[in-house]
Amino acid sequence: MSNILEIENLHFQYGEIVALRGISLNVGEGEVVTLLGGNGAGKTTTLTAISGLINGITQGEIRFMGEKINGKAPHKIAALGIAHSLEGRHIFSQLTVMENLMMGAYLRKGDNAGIAKDLEYVFHLFPRLKEREKQQGGTLSGGEQQMLAVGRALMQAPKLLMLDEPSLGIAPIIVEDIFRALHQINQDGLPLLLVEQNCNVALDIAHRGYVIETGEIILSDTAQALAENELIQKSYMGME
Ligand SMILES: Nc1ncnc2c1ncn2[C@@H]1O[C@H](COP(=O)(O)OP(=O)(O)OP(=O)(O)O)[C@@H](O)[C@H]1O
Ligand SMILES: [Mg+2]
Repeated sequence: MSNILEIENLHFQYGEIVALRGISLNVGEGEVVTLLGGNGAGKTTTLTAISGLINGITQGEIRFMGEKINGKAPHKIAALGIAHSLEGRHIFSQLTVMENLMMGAYLRKGDNAGIAKDLEYVFHLFPRLKEREKQQGGTLSGGEQQMLAVGRALMQAPKLLMLDEPSLGIAPIIVEDIFRALHQINQDGLPLLLVEQNCNVALDIAHRGYVIETGEIILSDTAQALAENELIQKSYMGME
C-alpha cells in the first residue's frame, strides 16, 4: 500500500516550549489511522503542523502524495487535498448550515456538479443536517455542530481528512452516529487521520494507531493489537 501522508522525525516548538520530539507516522491510501494520547500529548500540534496553521517545525519533514508540504501556506495545503476538522468544531455560528457547508467548497470554483453531488452525500451521511439546512450554525446542538464540521471538511472534496477529537463533549449515542458516518466515509475510499482521547471509538474504526505521549510516539500497532494492549486499556480505556 502506498502512503498518502508521511511524517518523518518531526520536531515542533512553540517558542521555547518543545511540543513534538521527533515523531514519525504515515497514513496509507484508504486507511484509517488514529493518533491516541492524553491531554497535552501533542495531538493537536501534529494536525495543525500538517495543515500549516502553526509555525514551529525545527526539524523533520511532512510529505503529502510524495510532495514536501512543511513550509507551505495553509490554503496551499488545503488545495492539495488535506481537510482538517478542528478541535472544538469551529463552525461559523452566524451562518446557516447550508452556508457553512458551502464555505467548505470555496476552493472549488466552477465545479457546480461536483459540489451538488457532495452536498447530497453529506446530507445522506447526516440527515439531521438536511433537516436543519436553514438553521444558524450556532443554534445547533454540540453533536450537530460536529456533524457540520465533518460535512464542511467533506465539501472540500479532500484526498485526506484529518479529525481532531470528533467525540469530545458529545453524548455517546451521537458519537456512535458520527463514527458510523466516519466509517462509511472511509469505506467510500477516503483515508482518515483521526486524533482521539476516546480510544474505544477510535480503535473500532481504525486500521492502525499510534500512541503519543509528551511529544513522542511510544507505541504503534494494528488497531486490534492496540485494543488488546494492557497499557492502553489501563491508561486510555478506563479499564483496571
Ligand atoms: N500556542 C501554544 N503555545 C505554547 N504551548 C502550546 C501551545 N499550544 C499547545 N502548547 C503546548 O504543546 C503541548 C501539546 O499540546 P497539544 O494541544 O498538541 O496537545 P493535545 O494532545 O492536543 O491535548 P488535548 O487532548 O488536551 O487537546 C502542550 O504541552 C501544550 O501546553
Ligand atoms: Mg488537542
